Amino acid sequence: MAKKNSDGYLSARESRRISRENRKITNEYEKKRKRKDVPEEEYLTTMHDPNNAVEFDNLHTYFFTDAGTVKAVDGVTYEVPIGKTVGVVGESGCGKSVTSLSLMQLLQRPQGQVTDGEIRLNLGDKAYDVTKAPDEVLQKIRGNVVSMIFQEPMTALNPVFRIGEQIEEVISLHNESGMNEAQMKARTIELLEMVGIANSEGVYKMFPHELSGGMRQRVVIAMALACNPRVIIADEPTTALDVTIQAQILDLLRNLKDKINSSIMFITHDLGVIAEMADYVVVMYAGRIVEKGTSDDIFHHPAHPYTIGLMASKPVVGKKVDKLYSIPGKVPNPINMPNYCYFKDRCEMCVEGCDGAYPCEVKLSDTHFVSCYRYYDKKED
Ligand SMILES: Nc1ncnc2c1ncn2[C@@H]1O[C@H](COP(=O)(O)OP(=O)(O)OP(=O)(O)O)[C@@H](O)[C@H]1O
Ligand SMILES: [Mg+2]
Repeated sequence: MAKKNSDGYLSARESRRISRENRKITNEYEKKRKRKDVPEEEYLTTMHDPNNAVEFDNLHTYFFTDAGTVKAVDGVTYEVPIGKTVGVVGESGCGKSVTSLSLMQLLQRPQGQVTDGEIRLNLGDKAYDVTKAPDEVLQKIRGNVVSMIFQEPMTALNPVFRIGEQIEEVISLHNESGMNEAQMKARTIELLEMVGIANSEGVYKMFPHELSGGMRQRVVIAMALACNPRVIIADEPTTALDVTIQAQILDLLRNLKDKINSSIMFITHDLGVIAEMADYVVVMYAGRIVEKGTSDDIFHHPAHPYTIGLMASKPVVGKKVDKLYSIPGKVPNPINMPNYCYFKDRCEMCVEGCDGAYPCEVKLSDTHFVSCYRYYDKKED
């Protein structure tokens, strides 16, 4: 626990002590990661359900910063079934992106580390725990088995290369079937057409700045699809676009998913988008899952006060209100989490027992789970 001086700031000495301690911890993790020739048995695992593409199991991802340890993801468990879309919602800073970056193992290192838990990735004939896999194996997985569509297409594209070259680069990096140049170009054109770019031959030769935002996002999606990934992570893919283009991109993703039978992890804070896209919904709050279930469970029977608050703060067409509801208070400081329910200080529905330890998960139905004291009477045991 960090000691603060009377004005609430860390002293230089205290900060140095923390960073020394952090270095010790992160060096241990890094040493383990950088080993050569790690035997496959170390990261080989079995899926708990073979119908899942990914299983997050009690995932803990921490950032060891000079101000203290940020528990960005603190015990997250959920699965992404094959061919389904899982929507991950929650306010800014609740750990949505860090969960997906843990799956890609693209955390900012050395401070960002998975400290506990497993992420099982289904490769068809076998399954890997990506948190234990060495970098050389992860390089083959990234872009090939799991790919990512980022929020801002301009940062995902290189401004000095033509669109065609950039997509071909992805194909050639994972070129297992030994395609020659002409075949790679044909595949690139095919991908551009698949994402709804009409003038594919023309766009092939263009630079990113010559395209509109919506077109660029289509190119980024084409890149993500280049190697037929099993899992596509879409981290707020439409936030940088206006609403009409947003609707087109969502349509595109929906159609593509049916065509290629991949799973999609759809991260957003827009509940409307989730309602349109997702089969399952995971609601995160301050690094933990507070509620999860099918789209129907979450949208028609929201149980956690946080989910209920999110629903109430969503504008509804045709419904007149003087002032849109907003959840009072703010997310607790991730360095100093309380030892009771993280939402308690903002909750307007507290019951007896809420002062106790962090609530465990209560099963409301076969698909619907919630962590809240209000449902403790439904707890089995
Ligand atoms: N490199 C880092 N160093 C320290 N803390 C970090 C780092 N990256 C993320 N965090 C912290 O981890 C927590 C979760 O961040 P994350 O990016 O996952 O939020 P998010 O749910 O994706 O939010 P948003 O909706 O804004 O994208 C935040 O408190 C953030 O400050
Ligand atoms: Mg994010």
